[in-house]
Amino acid sequence: MSTLIQELALRRTFAIISHPDAGKTTLTEKLLMFGGAIQMAGAVRARGEQRRTRSDWMAIEKERGISVSASVMSFEHEGLSYNLLDTPGHEDFSEDTYRTLTAVDSAVMVLDAAKGIETQTLKLFEVCRLRDVPIVTFVNKVDREGRDPLDLLDEIEKTLALDVAPVTWPIGMGRDLKGVYDLLRDRVILFDPGRGDHIAEIAVDANLDDPRLDEAVGKAAADKLRDDVELVRGGYPEFDLESFLAGHLTPVFFGSALKTFGVAELLKGVGRLAPAPLARKADSRTVEPAEDKVSGFVFKIQANMDPNHRDRIAFFRICSGQFKRGMKLKHVRSGKVMAVYNPVFFLAQSRELAEEAFPGDIMGIPNHGQLRIGDTMTEGEDINFLGIPTFAPEVLRRVRLDDPMKAKQLKKALDDLAEEGVSQVFKPLDGSTWIVGVVGTLQFDVLTTRIAAEYNIKAGFEDGGFVTARWVFADEPAEMERFMAANKSNMAQDRDGGLVYLARNSWQLGRAGQDFPKVRFTATREQH
Ligand code: G4P
Repeated sequence: MSTLIQELALRRTFAIISHPDAGKTTLTEKLLMFGGAIQMAGAVRARGEQRRTRSDWMAIEKERGISVSASVMSFEHEGLSYNLLDTPGHEDFSEDTYRTLTAVDSAVMVLDAAKGIETQTLKLFEVCRLRDVPIVTFVNKVDREGRDPLDLLDEIEKTLALDVAPVTWPIGMGRDLKGVYDLLRDRVILFDPGRGDHIAEIAVDANLDDPRLDEAVGKAAADKLRDDVELVRGGYPEFDLESFLAGHLTPVFFGSALKTFGVAELLKGVGRLAPAPLARKADSRTVEPAEDKVSGFVFKIQANMDPNHRDRIAFFRICSGQFKRGMKLKHVRSGKVMAVYNPVFFLAQSRELAEEAFPGDIMGIPNHGQLRIGDTMTEGEDINFLGIPTFAPEVLRRVRLDDPMKAKQLKKALDDLAEEGVSQVFKPLDGSTWIVGVVGTLQFDVLTTRIAAEYNIKAGFEDGGFVTARWVFADEPAEMERFMAANKSNMAQDRDGGLVYLARNSWQLGRAGQDFPKVRFTATREQH
C-alpha cells in the first residue's frame, strides 16, 4: 500500500461545536492531554492568554472573555493523527466559524448535561448539516446533577431530527456518578473521583448480568443501569456506521471533561467511527483523497499577531496527494505558481515546519495577501473546490472616516481585513462611501480597534440605512440593466465586482424580488 493511502487512513480532521460554557475549552485540553500534546490542564487557556497580550485588538477577546480567532491543533493518539479545528463559541461569531466547518470531516457536539441543546449548538449543527457532516455527541458535566439522560436523547432526536445511538451510558450522575457503561463493548468504566483532575478511568470487563457489576457500583445503581439499558436498547436504534457517516445518526457519549472522565472513550470513539478524509467536490469533478496530485483549499486567513508584520497565514486544507515542503503549487485563481517553502503545522504548543502533509492535514502558508479564502491550489489542474461560501452580512454599516486625508489608507485597511474574512466591503454604485458588512456586530469593534492599531487610522461605523445584502444575478444582461436602473441607490459592488443589492428593510427586499422575478437574489456567494 502506498504511504499516501496508509497515512490518509490515519487522519481524523474534526471540530468541536457547542454553546459557550458547555465545556469546549476543557474538553480540548483533555483531548490534547491524551494526545501528549500538552502536559497539564489549563494550558490551552494559558496559551490563549499569552497570545492575547501580544496585540491590541486581541484585547477585545480578553475583555469579553471570548476567542475571536480560531486555530488548529494537531495531536496523535493510539497511532491516529487528529487535527482539531477550533471554532469560536461566542454567539456573535464571524464567518470564520462557518468556514472552518467546511474544512472538517466530522464534528464533536458538546452538550451540557443540565442544559441540552442551546441556541449556538443548533446554529452550528445546521451549518454541519448543510454538508451532512457526521456528528459525535458528548454529553458533558455528568459529574454534576444534570437532566435525565433519556430526556436528553429525546431532545437531540426531536430538535435536530437526528437518530441517536448511545455508545456509553452514565451510571448515576452528579454526586452519585459511578461510571459509564459501554453499550457496544459491554464493559464498565468506573469513575474514580479520588484521582481528581487526572485520567480517572478503570475498565471492568463486566456485562450487565455479571454480579461483579453489583460489586463495582452497588446493587441499586446496577439495577437502575439494567433498567436504563433495557429501555435504551428497546427504544433507540443500534449504532449504524453507514447512517452515522451519512449524517443521519449520532453516537452519544457521556462524561465529564473537567474530571477527565469518559474523554478517552470519546476520543477512541472518534478514532474508530469518524471518517478519514473524504472526497471533496470541485467545480468540474470530485477529488478523491488518494489521488497522487496535491490539491486543497484555503478556508481561513489570519493576520500576523504582530501588527508590524503584515504577512498572513492562510489555513490550507489538503484534499488529495502527499505534500512535500518546497513543492510548487498552482494558485488557480491567478494562474500563478507558488513554491511553498515554509508551511507550518499547528501543533498544540508550537508552530513546526511541515516537511510533509497528507489529506486532512491543515497547513499554514505564510503569504503577503496573494491567498484568499476559498482559493484552490493544485499541482497544475484548473479546478476550484466548492462549498466555501461568503455569507450575506447580517449587519451593515457605513464607514466614517475621521481623517479625510487618509481615505486611501482606509480603503487599503478595509480591503486587507475583508481579505482575511473579517468583514465584507461594498462600494455603492452611487459613489457614496463604503458600506461594511459583518455577520455579528462584535466584528465592528474588532475592525475599529484593528484599523486604529494596525493602520493608525481613526474610523468608525455608523448606520447607513441598510439592513441586509443580497447578491443579484440575471440570465439576461438587459434584465439586470433594467433592475439596476430601477434600484440605483440600492446597488453596490463587492470586492470582486459582484453585484449586490442593499435593502433598507425586508419589505423593500421582498418588493424588489416581486418586481423583478427574473433576477435571482442569493444570501451566499460561493467563491467561485
Ligand atoms: P467553553 O469553552 O465551552 O465555553 O467552556 P469551558 O471549557 O470554558 O467550561 C465552562 C465552565 O464549565 C468552566 O467553569 C469549566 O470548568 C466548567 N466545566 C467544563 N467541563 C465540566 C465538567 O465536565 N464538569 C463540571 N462540573 N464543570 C465543567 P468556570 O467556573 O466558568 O471556569 P473555570 O473558573 O473553572 O475556568
